Amino acid sequence: MAKVSKILRDSFGREHNYLRISLTEKCNLRCTYCMPESGVVLSPRSMLMTTEEVIYFATLFVKNGVDKIRLTGGEPLLRKDFGEILTVISKLPVELSLTTNAILVDRYIATFRSCGLKNINVSLDTLNAEKFDAITKRDHFSKAIQNIELLLQEDFNVKLNVVLMKNFNEDEIIDFINYTRDKNITVRFIEFMPFDGNAWDKSKLVGYDEVLNMAKAHYPEPDLVHLPNEKNFTARNFKIEGYQGSFGVISTVTNPFCDVCNRIRLTANGKLKNCLFSNGETDLLTAHRQGESIETIIHQAIQDKKAVRAGMAKEEDFKNMDNHNNRSMITIGG
Ligand code: 5AD
Ligand code: SF4
Repeated sequence: MAKVSKILRDSFGREHNYLRISLTEKCNLRCTYCMPESGVVLSPRSMLMTTEEVIYFATLFVKNGVDKIRLTGGEPLLRKDFGEILTVISKLPVELSLTTNAILVDRYIATFRSCGLKNINVSLDTLNAEKFDAITKRDHFSKAIQNIELLLQEDFNVKLNVVLMKNFNEDEIIDFINYTRDKNITVRFIEFMPFDGNAWDKSKLVGYDEVLNMAKAHYPEPDLVHLPNEKNFTARNFKIEGYQGSFGVISTVTNPFCDVCNRIRLTANGKLKNCLFSNGETDLLTAHRQGESIETIIHQAIQDKKAVRAGMAKEEDFKNMDNHNNRSMITIGG
């Protein structure tokens, strides 16, 4: 890892070398856990980062020690200048990755290849077409599946992000694990997290223990193998003996991993978020447009980062919706 500059080191000594950049607040799906039913008020175009501004910020963070960049959204492939942004950012000394819903992926295979982008996370919460329509409010299931298969054929490193919700898809946990049998794919089960307007309620949570118990009940003990944790891990990983792929659980709610957090986020309208759950944001875009030196501002934002989940350390604090007045996920960036 490149040495991170002082401005990206927080008061707990965590070094933030991983930047997630949201390229747009728009999406071609309407996942209910990500977007409020009523929609979101989009930032006016003039308040969104231009191509040059995205590149400027990416370069500045890399100069300060960021060596991993993930492009997200909304749906990042909706942005007309996606190819241009990717081409420039891929020349920086960073490990690049993308989070997408895969609907437009087939149009971009050549661009991904020429830019050396290998790591692609795809959001897919169900293997059932009707349920897909219900959760995304769109009927693009077959397109999503075809494109996931295309990515695998083309040898990309694919991770599926599956947000688990009670009475919606917890009955598909074993189906998803079976999906890893003949595919070199990683499935990551994500605990449903509270965000503005997503009707979160703790009874809808399917937690780490539940996933693991289900897996243990289905696969005999020696077949369920714990894999070692990665550095700065968010997922605890497992595989089934003899299966090509693997799976993991991201337990933000029941077991946060804040002590090894190395990530910061830049929203499509140029605000720095020092934590996914902080409602405090630092407006880098306006400062930059006014010609201010933004390094000092970044340093302050990083210094303000709390030890655990924007100050909601206890599970009970986190589960109390009164403590959440954050943006909805679609405008933060997944
Ligand atoms: N809880 C957990 N994960 C979420 N995502 C979006 N909203 C939520 C939520 N409420 C994740 C999805 C998607 C990424 C963009 O963000 O997994 O893959
Ligand atoms: Fe779009 Fe992803 Fe949000 Fe679904 S989760 S609405 S695909 S950004």
